[in-house]
Amino acid sequence: MARAVHDRRISHGGTLLSSHRHTIPDLGVSSWAIVCGRSRTARGAVKVSSDNKAGVGQVFSATCLHAPRRDVLEVMDDVVIHVGEDGFIREVLDPGAPGRDALVDAARQAGSLSVIRSPRFLIPGLVDLHIHAPQWPQLGKALHLPLEDWLQQATFPLESRYSDVVFATATYRSLVSTLLANGTTTAVYFATLHDESTRVLADICIELGQRALVGRVAMDHPGECPDFYRDESSDAAVRGTDDLIAYLARVGKGRVLPAITPRFIPSCTDELLAGLGELAAQHGCHIQTHCSESDWEHDHVLARMGRSDAEALHEFGLVGRHSVLAHANLLGDSDMDLIKQQGAGVAHCPLSNIYFSSAVFPLRRALEKGLHVGLGTDISGGPSASMFETCKHTVHSARMLELGVNARLSADERGVPNSRIDFIEAFHLATAGGAVVLDLPVGRFEPGYRFDAVQIDPDAVDGGILRFDGLDSTEDLLQKTIYGATRSNIAAVWVDGQAVAERAD
Ligand code: GUN
Ligand code: FE
Repeated sequence: MARAVHDRRISHGGTLLSSHRHTIPDLGVSSWAIVCGRSRTARGAVKVSSDNKAGVGQVFSATCLHAPRRDVLEVMDDVVIHVGEDGFIREVLDPGAPGRDALVDAARQAGSLSVIRSPRFLIPGLVDLHIHAPQWPQLGKALHLPLEDWLQQATFPLESRYSDVVFATATYRSLVSTLLANGTTTAVYFATLHDESTRVLADICIELGQRALVGRVAMDHPGECPDFYRDESSDAAVRGTDDLIAYLARVGKGRVLPAITPRFIPSCTDELLAGLGELAAQHGCHIQTHCSESDWEHDHVLARMGRSDAEALHEFGLVGRHSVLAHANLLGDSDMDLIKQQGAGVAHCPLSNIYFSSAVFPLRRALEKGLHVGLGTDISGGPSASMFETCKHTVHSARMLELGVNARLSADERGVPNSRIDFIEAFHLATAGGAVVLDLPVGRFEPGYRFDAVQIDPDAVDGGILRFDGLDSTEDLLQKTIYGATRSNIAAVWVDGQAVAERAD
């Protein structure tokens, strides 16, 4: 299969090692078009039936950027991506590649060709590893409180409202559609301890076409969970989790998956943690929880368990290849070694950490040790629903860790050397890196990966990107996207080759 990309390796310092450019030829389509198999189309979209009669699948002609590794940004100028009916990328064809013209012609005739013209370009769909779906109404509120008070005074009362399925339906629909419009094609959700409204969240993801992991939150500890928001027993929490796993095996179509979700050690009894560990061993499904987020939490676990979060979670069978540990700021070296050995992943949530954590996650150290790491918004601990913002905060917080923050100290004792992260690494973490954490074939434009993609329009009138002809390379536009893109700059979003969000022009 022919595949040639223009590989621009960019060092941490941002030095371009190679550069190529092609103009996109006129393929005879008067304006950019989105083709989707679903009944929904937007203005500017060409509608085709879901059973593509010619069996061509979907074909996209565009300049595409991805970062399959953290030190490589590939700019694929004017490629044609062939997506099968199953949503998998079959081939990525360069200009002049054998069979490319015939494929484009066939797709045009079948009405399944989408042409995205420069300066617009495609990036892989964004992967948000950590979202508290019920906290959506609280975005941008209550952030003056420390974690333990925020949970008790603001968050648990809000989450308890999701016993009301009507309330849950409205807020979850608003959240999922906003995240899709923001380019989040894979979302990892904590729901609440309510079985029914957790299923509602999963149903909405299925309906709106978002790839998702959904967790029914388990929390039964009487010392840390209030009467009005606590599982009635560890058995009830394990049963509710098991039911969700069975439900999603039936209806999730492999796109919406269950995640075993102990909230965090302080809110779970040992019986519950052990029961969920057994469930994980039985089903091999994903696990998500919070780990060593703040001094309060870290010390609470040390005092109760006599060991760190990572060690205690591991003993309960909760740290494995499909575990997502949120925050992980206070990991020691032996914790990192354990996580690496188990193949587990970390959801780095830089914005939320500013509010609730007592330290900056040592991201560079974790990456150099070979841990799987991706990024999370941590809505609503992180008051932003944008993964571009999350990339930006990743760069900023790493820079502050490196430089240090206390101006009263001399420069050489202020920071942690070799901590900075550049925009390409952040972009990688928000796409391919997050996908590796989840062990899902997304996050890159390569055969064998699913076509989850975001169309960036740098020229959007109300957007946050300023483009200057002759001054901005495609890489520059990606950097400007990460630093400034708003929802207006996102023209269209696809999951499995199907349009799931389109900007109303
Ligand atoms: N630890 C336990 N629950 C939560 C939560 O909802 N948000 C954050 N940031 N940390 C937690
Ligand atoms: Fe969280």
